[in-house]
Amino acid sequence: MLSLDKTLKYKVADISLADWGRKEMQLSENEMPGLMSIRKKYGPKKPLKGLKVMGSLHMTIQTAMLIETLKELGADIRWSSCNIYSTQDHAAAAIAKAGSAAVFAWKAETLEEYWWCTEQALTWPDGSGPDMLVDDGGDATLMVHQGVTMEKDKSLLEKKYDNKEFQLIIDRLKESIKTDPQKWTKIASKIRGVSEETTTGVHRLYQLMEKGELLFPAINVNDSVTKSKFDNLYGCRESLADGIKRATDIMIAGKIVVICGYGDVGKGCAQSMRGFGARVLITEVDPICTLQALMAGYEITTMDKAASIGDIFVTATGCCKVITGEHMEKMKNEAIICNIGHFDDEIEMSYLENSKDCKKEPIKPQVDKWTLKSGRSIIVLAEGRLVNLGCATGHSSFVMSTSFTNQCLAQIKLAQENLDKKVYTLPKDLDEEVARLHVEKLGAVLTKLTKEQADYLGIPANGPFKPDMYRY
Ligand code: NAD
Ligand code: ADE
Repeated sequence: MLSLDKTLKYKVADISLADWGRKEMQLSENEMPGLMSIRKKYGPKKPLKGLKVMGSLHMTIQTAMLIETLKELGADIRWSSCNIYSTQDHAAAAIAKAGSAAVFAWKAETLEEYWWCTEQALTWPDGSGPDMLVDDGGDATLMVHQGVTMEKDKSLLEKKYDNKEFQLIIDRLKESIKTDPQKWTKIASKIRGVSEETTTGVHRLYQLMEKGELLFPAINVNDSVTKSKFDNLYGCRESLADGIKRATDIMIAGKIVVICGYGDVGKGCAQSMRGFGARVLITEVDPICTLQALMAGYEITTMDKAASIGDIFVTATGCCKVITGEHMEKMKNEAIICNIGHFDDEIEMSYLENSKDCKKEPIKPQVDKWTLKSGRSIIVLAEGRLVNLGCATGHSSFVMSTSFTNQCLAQIKLAQENLDKKVYTLPKDLDEEVARLHVEKLGAVLTKLTKEQADYLGIPANGPFKPDMYRY
């Protein structure tokens, strides 16, 4: 068991990469107008002064820019990644060297190291926890909630859990509760709230709220229009191909690409693959998304049918066991399978890992060839973890600026308001403000409503322009 070290200032792969990281951060300033304008507008007022912020979010160049924006707003920050493969080591090094945050993240952590990093980031040198969380996928929120649950009923710590990763979390909690039996209860009671980045994390939050188990307020950043309709869609439209190409150099044109899930991420992935000249098939469970895919001209199928047909498979559902062992056994030789959803359970990796008939041959980091019982092989990217961040560097700065501007606004809201233990979304006027900043950067000029036109539409001339229920 890796022991917690409260005096450690950071743990990164290689601090000598800091200057490279800094140069890339400087380049991204031009592409992150939302974050730069947050720094300008709120920097002098320091709305986060005196507040401790813990982040569990992919430690990339774009996240480094978010961290330094939160720092400029006055926060005292600790950070870990939310995925074992997504850290850009030069970004982590730049943050560590500048002392902008205590950062615990490197590319290719083990799962045990991952949960150590998360606890390190959640624990300040005096043993206290954060005032606010920036979460992506809900792992920091989960660790605090599970800690509180275990402290309430310590017999749960003695149980054996089938899920290997959950057992790792419980082992960590057991150790921390030995040192301080009330650590997590004290930490949870001080948390003003969490701002959650992604669809899957938001689902977890609503589930907690519905069960009456949410321990602190939460802001659903994902469902700001300038997040889910941009990052999830246009971000993945570019970063999926980046991940597949860096991993395999495969020609996409002419291939049959199967996209599982036609939500925001799936729509971006499908459009991207079609743009490269692939023949795209979609699998869906939701009739509305299915109809959307049909109207966009895609063929709809099921994984059972597509398994033996596809050349490249991409899961984008947030669901589990979308591609099963049975599907893999039916696949063509050297079919490529990958996932772009938040967690690694969309592809049944346990089938490959636990079956004596399946043999792994690493090609390079995050690219493995698995030979199956069928005698054929498949190429698995990033061990089923999100391919755009595992095999490439995630979304580009410009789209992350829209997401992270919302994150900053959410953190300011958590700092300034005493919210109930519920899940909130940000108001429409802030969403429009985030969009406005990025529209200006692209040099577009908005048409201004005249008073007569605004009265005709029955809305204020400066917005909000659409009702809350409007879907984009
Ligand atoms: P979404 O809810 O908009 O879309 C998911 C779609 O999958 C839905 O339409 C749903 O009906 C469908 N689906 C669910 N189970 C299915 C199944 N078994 N088979 C086929 N379809 C199924 O969610 P989203 O915003 O598109 O996000 C999808 C996932 O991607 C989430 O895990 C999210 O957290 C993650 N995400 C990843 C990135 C990234 O950079 N990798 C970015 C944003 C979101
Ligand atoms: N999610 C998708 N792309 C990302 C990036 N570049 N940085 C942080 N989180 C991301």
